[in-house]
Amino acid sequence: MRKITIAIDGHSSTGKSTMAKQLAKTLGYVYVDTGAMYRAITLYALQKGYIGPNIAKPEFLIRELPLIHLEFKHNASKGFSEMYLNNTNVEKEIRTLEVSRYVSQISEIREVRQKLVLLQKEMGKKKGLVMDGRDIGTVVFPNAELKIFMTANPEIRATRRYKELIDRGADISFEEVLENVQQRDFLDTNREFSPLKKADDAIVLDNSTLSPEEQFKRTLALVEDRINTA
Ligand code: DC
Repeated sequence: MRKITIAIDGHSSTGKSTMAKQLAKTLGYVYVDTGAMYRAITLYALQKGYIGPNIAKPEFLIRELPLIHLEFKHNASKGFSEMYLNNTNVEKEIRTLEVSRYVSQISEIREVRQKLVLLQKEMGKKKGLVMDGRDIGTVVFPNAELKIFMTANPEIRATRRYKELIDRGADISFEEVLENVQQRDFLDTNREFSPLKKADDAIVLDNSTLSPEEQFKRTLALVEDRINTA
C-alpha cells in the first residue's frame, strides 16, 4: 500500500502524541515526537545553567548546538521510542513541569529551530511517517498528504495534563498547570519564527468533547481516504 506523510500540529496537551503514536502503530509507520526534541534541548540548557529563573543566555546555547546530539531509540519492551540526549536516556526528565516552563523560550530561538527542522526533514525522507509538533504542516512537511490541527478548550487540556502529572507523583496545583498551558499557547502562537498556526489545508480536530476512540476513528478514515486518493 502507498505510504504517506501525516503531519499533526496543534495546541499543547491536546493529545497529539497519543493519537500520533496510535496511528503509527496501526499503520506500521514511524512516529516522531518533535516536542521531545525541543524539550531535550531545553533540558540541556537547564543543566548547563543557560536558562532558569531570571537567567537567559541563548548565545551560549547557540554556540554549543553542534555539540548536542539527539536520537530516538526504540524501546522494545515499552513499544515506543525514547529520547536520548548525548547518548543518555532523558525520556523522563524532559516531561517535567520545569522543562515545560522553559521550552517555549528555547523553541523560539531561530538557530534551535533550524537545527531541529533539518533533522526532522531528514527523518521524513522515506514517507510512512507520523510526525507531531507545532510547525510540521507549515514548515517541516508543507507537502504532507494529510495535515491535522488538534485543539481543545484550555481548561479541558489543563485538566488532562494535571491528571497526568499527579499520576506521575508531581506536587503541583491545577492553577499552575492551567497557567502553563495558557502561557505556552501564547508563546507558541506569537513567536517570530515558525509560530503555531494551522496550515491552510489542515483539517481541524477539536477534541474538547470527543472521546479518544471517536477521534481516532475519524482520523483513520481521513488517512484511508488520503492513501487512496493522494
Ligand atoms: O508537544 P510538546 O508539548 O511536548 O512540545 C513542547 C514545546 O516544544 C511546545 O510548547 C512548543 C515546542 N515545539 C515547537 O515549537 N515546535 C514543534 N514542532 C514541537 C514543539
